[in-house]
Amino acid sequence: MKIAVLTSGGDSPGMNAAIRAVVRQATANNHIVFGFVEGYRGLADGESLELNNRLVSEIIDRGGTFLRTSRYMDFIDHQVQMKAVTNLKSLDIESLIVIGGEGSMAGAHSLCNLGVRVIGVPASIDNDIYGTDYAIGFDTALNTVVAMLSKLRDTASAHERIFIVEVMGRRSGAIALNAGLAGGADYMCLPGTPATEPNQIDQISALIERRYELGKTHTLIIFAEGAGSAGEVAGALRATTGREVRVTVLGHIQRGGSPSALDRLIASRLGSYAADLADDGKSDIMVGLGGGQLITTPLEETFTKKVNADNGLYKLAKVLA
Ligand code: F6P
Repeated sequence: MKIAVLTSGGDSPGMNAAIRAVVRQATANNHIVFGFVEGYRGLADGESLELNNRLVSEIIDRGGTFLRTSRYMDFIDHQVQMKAVTNLKSLDIESLIVIGGEGSMAGAHSLCNLGVRVIGVPASIDNDIYGTDYAIGFDTALNTVVAMLSKLRDTASAHERIFIVEVMGRRSGAIALNAGLAGGADYMCLPGTPATEPNQIDQISALIERRYELGKTHTLIIFAEGAGSAGEVAGALRATTGREVRVTVLGHIQRGGSPSALDRLIASRLGSYAADLADDGKSDIMVGLGGGQLITTPLEETFTKKVNADNGLYKLAKVLA
């Protein structure tokens, strides 16, 4: 059987490890594997290469994706999807494995509706995909943010400054919450708790003053990009506290770097499981991890259902801050 793999949407550390696992497991199952370049763009334009075990060697420790990726909005067009179906048929590809986030799973489900067999593999630093406890790349991004928080604490403390550190996550606060807890942030601004509300600014201002009374010379506030405008909050805090407030936007640094051991393990397990399910003729599902076990979820649920914010973790972070 011929199987194809692609990476789509925002890249995340561990995508290469997932491609490697798909190729090596599918090869071990006696299948031929193709890779489409730049996600759905390459699929629609028929740009592919045959992959083998040798081609995926020495990529397990590399960030990014050697197949490259794209945010290919044209793929919502039925005609473009039909071009993809034709390209898959002309190569006799019987099963496609899509590694990516929510939007990529939606694209995968559209292809299933057109008769293509597709298995999804969740990969996004945002960790906002329904159907898995962990998406590939989340752990590496957390480690990056935690390392940056330590560096910022040093300089914040030396200058007696307040730092607002904006992290990625789109509408999800998972990076802010988990990295904030692991990195010992003093306050968290998460989506759903608009930081611009006057009472929240009052809360943060009171916290800052309390910290100075306790002899602490800095305050680190972690700010999810979906929580509003970090700049506006900085302005409001400058006005209420009269102190120096700086904003650091970590940006795409969070998407790069060699994947953590955990991301490599997750990517290897999920990629291999996806290849085995393709071998079994399964389709229209995404693989994932639930309570440490390999699970599957119907593709449609992965982008229509929402991941609930972890209130337990938020309460814990508040107690420990
Ligand atoms: O989905 C991953 C992510 O990094 C989000 O956290 C962020 O909002 C977005 O992608 C940025 O996308 P782009 O790199 O296309 O600007």
